[in-house]
Amino acid sequence: MDASVFNYRNGDLMVEDIRLRSLAESLGTPLYVYSTQAIQTNFRAYQQAFVGRPYLIAYSVKAASNLAILRLIQREGGGCDIVSGGELARALKAEVDPQKIVFSGVGKTALEMAAALKAGILSFNVESAPELRLLSATAQSLGRKAPISLRVNPDVDPQTHPYVATGLRESKFGLPVGEAYQLYLQAKNDPGLEIVGVDCHIGSQLTSVGPFQAAAERLLVLMSQLKAAGINLKLLDLGGGLGIDYHGEKIPPVAEYAQAFRAIYAAFPGLTIILEPGRSVVGAAAVLLVTVLYDKITPYKRFIITDGGMNDLIRPSLYGSYHVIKPVKDLDRPLTQVNVVGPICESGDFLAQDRALPLVEAGETLAVFGAGAYGFSMSSNYNSRPRPAEVLVSGSTCRVIRARETSEDLIRGESF
Ligand code: LLP
Repeated sequence: MDASVFNYRNGDLMVEDIRLRSLAESLGTPLYVYSTQAIQTNFRAYQQAFVGRPYLIAYSVKAASNLAILRLIQREGGGCDIVSGGELARALKAEVDPQKIVFSGVGKTALEMAAALKAGILSFNVESAPELRLLSATAQSLGRKAPISLRVNPDVDPQTHPYVATGLRESKFGLPVGEAYQLYLQAKNDPGLEIVGVDCHIGSQLTSVGPFQAAAERLLVLMSQLKAAGINLKLLDLGGGLGIDYHGEKIPPVAEYAQAFRAIYAAFPGLTIILEPGRSVVGAAAVLLVTVLYDKITPYKRFIITDGGMNDLIRPSLYGSYHVIKPVKDLDRPLTQVNVVGPICESGDFLAQDRALPLVEAGETLAVFGAGAYGFSMSSNYNSRPRPAEVLVSGSTCRVIRARETSEDLIRGESF
């Protein structure tokens, strides 16, 4: 994945052709800064890997859902993987073709189903028998047929953080293969349903292709059984999940990942493969800029207290995840062992622990790398902190794609 858009030039950390320091000065911090070029490069890598075969890259909106990012994906010809009515509204607002939208998630409501049916999406990725019943009833009440793919839980270990592993049989996601087969037989004769495909998603931040291959093989067996039962599928959705290099992880290139699908195309020519990448498209394409407030030295630890905290980027606190941190000025200063922490009133509020960083002073800005995926989208107003602004850089131009929240935004809708 492309992180090469972030480089030091004459001592200044740049994003494309813009100094991150200038962005921090003019727009304030904490600030999410995305690179158009990096998003495009990452997205195009998927498209290039499938050229000449039917495919759909449905960007997973949850990773970073700003309208400008969705619009960028739309312009690249991409679709969207959504998990809520809110994400549907965003995708439609960005004018993503509804026939390129797939709707995942274990807890869709009737209202969300109705909205997606009216929009005419490509497929509902259905995760349980009761969901299938509600979807059928909802579709019939609207005089429509819901296009469905059943999400299969292939019971594959994706070897990732337990919170983001979804394809193990103990997880809440998907249907056991046997149950999925039975439900397909029922759905075949259901007037509210139209079978279009099969789906799975085994987890996030995967660092090898093996688990994807194992999952695909299980789906292939199911598809052959369905074919024998007279059910022919048009779509095979293998979810998202390819990881990024946060801290030296070796990630297989997308082209190698795509090779894993060769056997599928061979067995089912004409099948459209859908992928739902999120992290690998936007993760390395953004940094979070934070400014040092204090250098606090205790007898036991040294804390670099910044204006960005766990409400702005929760990944280190929630998953213990590692994000590279660099000063936006290339500082030729000695390294010191520090904890980089935020202002939130929790000891779990940190961006880095026991990290060797060049000595930084109050007022200097740090860039937290790999912040594009599940960064802003998981941010909150905890401690009544306005959420950061987001900017999108392209070459030497930049655009604020989300204004920094104000204290008025914080109390909108409240009353006493
Ligand atoms: N499709 C489905 C059905 C998903 O549940 C997910 C992510 C994706 C696609 C996109 O996966 P990706 O390509 O981004 O790995 N907040 C966590 C990650 C949660 C992932 C949830 N599902 C984190 O910050 O690591």
